[in-house]
Amino acid sequence: MTRIHRFADLEPLSRAAARALLEDMQSRLAVQDRYTLALAGGGTPQRLYELLATEAEGPLPWEQLHLFWGDERYVPPTDPRSNHRLVQRTLLSDAPCPAAHVHPIPTDRTPPAAAAAAYEHTLRRFFADRGATFDTVLLGLGADAHTASLFPETPALGQSDDWVRVVEAPPRHEVSPRITCALPVLNGARRALVLVAGAHKREALRAVLDDQDPSCPGTHIAPRTRADWYVDHAARPTA
Ligand code: 6PG
Repeated sequence: MTRIHRFADLEPLSRAAARALLEDMQSRLAVQDRYTLALAGGGTPQRLYELLATEAEGPLPWEQLHLFWGDERYVPPTDPRSNHRLVQRTLLSDAPCPAAHVHPIPTDRTPPAAAAAAYEHTLRRFFADRGATFDTVLLGLGADAHTASLFPETPALGQSDDWVRVVEAPPRHEVSPRITCALPVLNGARRALVLVAGAHKREALRAVLDDQDPSCPGTHIAPRTRADWYVDHAARPTA
């Protein structure tokens, strides 16, 4: 099931996404003892992370919450382009999150394939089947309709047997080697929250949501129960 939620701009979008996440955590933790959340990189989710960190929409269940990443740039965690650093800075810096509950993609392994293999080992420790993974996966959408680090040029989007892949991002993207969860692992999530904001995303969003263009990786976001698209008016001027 796909549902589209439109907001005037990034602030109400982020607040609504925070509320939706917290509500889902509360309902799931009534019937299970942990909650697994895969985080997105880029700029759009930063405000959401800040809101979660300040518990503006309510407290997070830090003792039951495990954090993963959907993808990572192959740079040190101190690099300003690192998704791990982004989350560390906006969500985790003052949070009472047990260190053992934070599962970043280890970009200190060489070559990149070793980092992917190490992350696959981490995921296999938590999930017996790549078809049933995270409670929620947070995703963004690039202006070229990429999601995580799955680009229109990425081969074998859905066919690969890997859990985690090394992807050479196209030259237009600042960091070429990327480590990304494969599409079946992302879609193994029970639900997806896809955050898209800005007029520069309008065409990509139309190609994905209206045209279901198969050449767009965003079109293949299909988690097990539901995908909620949180979009602003700039990215989607009409419902
Ligand atoms: C990354 C993200 C990537 C991101 C999109 C949108 O590592 O950059 O995982 O998939 O979600 O590129 O990025 P913005 O939110 O910055 O537009």
